[in-house]
Amino acid sequence: MNTKDIVLTGDRPTGRLHIGHYTGSIVNRLKMQHEYQTTYVMIADYQAYTDHSSNRELVKESIIQLMIDYLACGLDPELNTIFIQSLVPELCEFTMIYANCVTLARLRRNPTVKNEMQQKGYGDAVPVGFLTYPISQAADITAFKANLVPAGEDQLAMLEQCNEIVRHIRHNYNSDVLQECKPILSRVTRLPGTDGQAKMGKSLGNCIYLSDSADLVREKVMGMFTDPNHLRVEDPGKVEGNPVFTYLDAFEPDREQLAEWKAWYQRGGLGDVKVKRRLVEVLNGILEPIRQKRAELEKSEDELWEILFTHSARARAVAQETLRELKSDLGLIYKQNAQK
Ligand code: TRP
Repeated sequence: MNTKDIVLTGDRPTGRLHIGHYTGSIVNRLKMQHEYQTTYVMIADYQAYTDHSSNRELVKESIIQLMIDYLACGLDPELNTIFIQSLVPELCEFTMIYANCVTLARLRRNPTVKNEMQQKGYGDAVPVGFLTYPISQAADITAFKANLVPAGEDQLAMLEQCNEIVRHIRHNYNSDVLQECKPILSRVTRLPGTDGQAKMGKSLGNCIYLSDSADLVREKVMGMFTDPNHLRVEDPGKVEGNPVFTYLDAFEPDREQLAEWKAWYQRGGLGDVKVKRRLVEVLNGILEPIRQKRAELEKSEDELWEILFTHSARARAVAQETLRELKSDLGLIYKQNAQK
């Protein structure tokens, strides 16, 4: 058990978890909760507001749905501090301080932000909160002195920006309160969408959710994009870039049969329907126990909120202490002469 490192992960509550989240981050978190003593899982509601401020009902509903997804997958509240970002208001104070360490030009250069801004077509009408979310993300990480942040490729730019802020504060204010962080890159690649697009995305309508019923999973898989040139069963088909096989790569427990099926598909003679039926079976095998736990957890929402409140209070105490230390180094603690 690693007692020194502090691990922090987080998700924006803007929808439920899909199987891409499962392979991309949940599986890693399930391992890490046993390997590291201190693991924080943050539900980033303020960050969700940076692009969902007009859909606050969705954010609210997604907080509890995320919590249900987490616990149904096996994240253990005894082993993790699972908290809500806005219940740690000190994070806003950190953000306020860090905002002075970052230039507008630097924010605009952040490749992840740049991409997202292009996708959303913001241009100059970008909400300031959105452009500056890397600053608030630096607050999330540093307030807990997290030195390890599990991250996909797109989050590396956030961590780089966070470390720049940390170095700025360390050098310019001669303070050693804040720690730089390192990514833990997840080994499993992100799953493509059921439509063959590179990314499974909530807004793209190409996701299989952990909460989908067995019938819905079947329907989505049977409608999946495959090799468009694999028209007849006897035609040779492509395995690379074929999402049905990418999913099987991620989930099929029978590796030997999968290898045989890939060769068979490439040769010709193996039909899409047969492969898809197998994928339905494999996915539903993994999702069924999660579904059952979800159904149970849905009945105890009050207790789940209770856990979130307790854990958020615990997280807040840590952030308060870090903030006190930082403000002291910055000369931001004032006392009247008489009380000196
Ligand atoms: N940016 C993450 C996402 O889009 C969520 C997040 C917010 C986060 N703060 C974080 C992740 C701090 C890791 C560390 O899902």
